[in-house]
Amino acid sequence: MNMNLLIIHAAALTTSRGSAARAGRDMDALEVIPDGALRIEEGTITAVGTTDEVMAAGPTDDFTIIDAAGKAVVPGFVDSHTHFIFGGYRADEFAWRLQGMSYMAIMAQGGGIASTVAATRRTDLGTLVELGRRRLDAMLGFGVTTVEGKSGYGLDRDTEIRQLEAMAILNREHPLDIVPTYLGAHAIPGEYKARGDAYMDFILETVLPEVATRRLAEFCDVFCEDHVFSVAQSRRLLSRAKALGFKLTLHADEIVALGGAELAAELGAVSADHLLQASDAGIQGLANAGVVATLLPITAFGLKEPYARGRVMIDRGCAVALATDFNPGSCFSNSIPLLMALATLHMGLTPEEALTAITLNGAAAIDRADRVGSLEVGKQGDAVILAYPSHRFMPYHLGVNIVEKVVKQGRLVFDQERGGRIDGV
Ligand code: NIG
Ligand code: FE
Repeated sequence: MNMNLLIIHAAALTTSRGSAARAGRDMDALEVIPDGALRIEEGTITAVGTTDEVMAAGPTDDFTIIDAAGKAVVPGFVDSHTHFIFGGYRADEFAWRLQGMSYMAIMAQGGGIASTVAATRRTDLGTLVELGRRRLDAMLGFGVTTVEGKSGYGLDRDTEIRQLEAMAILNREHPLDIVPTYLGAHAIPGEYKARGDAYMDFILETVLPEVATRRLAEFCDVFCEDHVFSVAQSRRLLSRAKALGFKLTLHADEIVALGGAELAAELGAVSADHLLQASDAGIQGLANAGVVATLLPITAFGLKEPYARGRVMIDRGCAVALATDFNPGSCFSNSIPLLMALATLHMGLTPEEALTAITLNGAAAIDRADRVGSLEVGKQGDAVILAYPSHRFMPYHLGVNIVEKVVKQGRLVFDQERGGRIDGV
């Protein structure tokens, strides 16, 4: 298949250049090229610039050419925090929350994560793969070209491994790239009720070493939260995971200011996520330690919790990423337009900061900033063509998906004009 592609005459091509997270003020300073163009050969970007510059970069005989006149071109989006492999749904819980029941109260009475755990344990590998494939297709339609996915809906050995295997299969067969995370410490399963330390022993002795040996996950995550896993338990898990070669990420300070951000800084985590309640010291710790602060505003919106202090974090020098947290409970949404709207309107990010947060910094949050997250020579040819002439239309066209075409490693994989998901030009 022809893997050589030229995108030319873009009204504005926004590069998000960088090979590491952009922090503080740098998040806003984006390069926008008028009459922009991109040359992709064998899946890799080989030239970026104005159309004249890129057309002069070499012969174009065997290239497919997309004319992007009147459109903006941006890097493929990186959704760096999702739980997209699961069985069952929890629409009833959403209704209970509307009646005033809290997320943690539902969890305390055996619903919440436990309910998805029960459903996922009953779901076989083929079904998980099929469900995952459909969800990845939907993400692609929102311009997402790289996604992180977590286990954490099995808790027992077999189901956790099955979730990770489903992601490995999908990573091979679906154009979207998947970065897998082991989240066995997502909740204490019923069979270990009130025995959190014993469950942690089980993870450390049984599942974590197998996941490491079989290289089923690149990251290890923990729900560090009051009534779930304490800071001490989280430290124990993550220290061991680090020694086994995992990169670290945490669900930190989501409901209570427990000190998850501080722990992320102490352990040199790649990312700390949620952070709705992160303390001033925690925020400074993340900035100083270069831990990406991954914010998930659709979850705050859906749970009617206060938003994370995104503006403050950036002003204090943090690198902020944005992700959906797509999952069947706290956030059953993979909507990039909703994410952009909330980040700008409710967390005070500029459209440029929000774009950095969903591209380069999203990539950095899953340690992929050397490969994806920006449009520059040497990176993967992952790009999104928008139906409007500037990336600023993303938050401005409130809640509307303006993605017209998606290119993954030089292949056109989604085209609104041709009915959506396609397999190549
Ligand atoms: O990131 N907070 C913990 N985990 C998920 C929710 C999982 C669920 O409700 O099923 C989150 O919000
Ligand atoms: Fe999450």
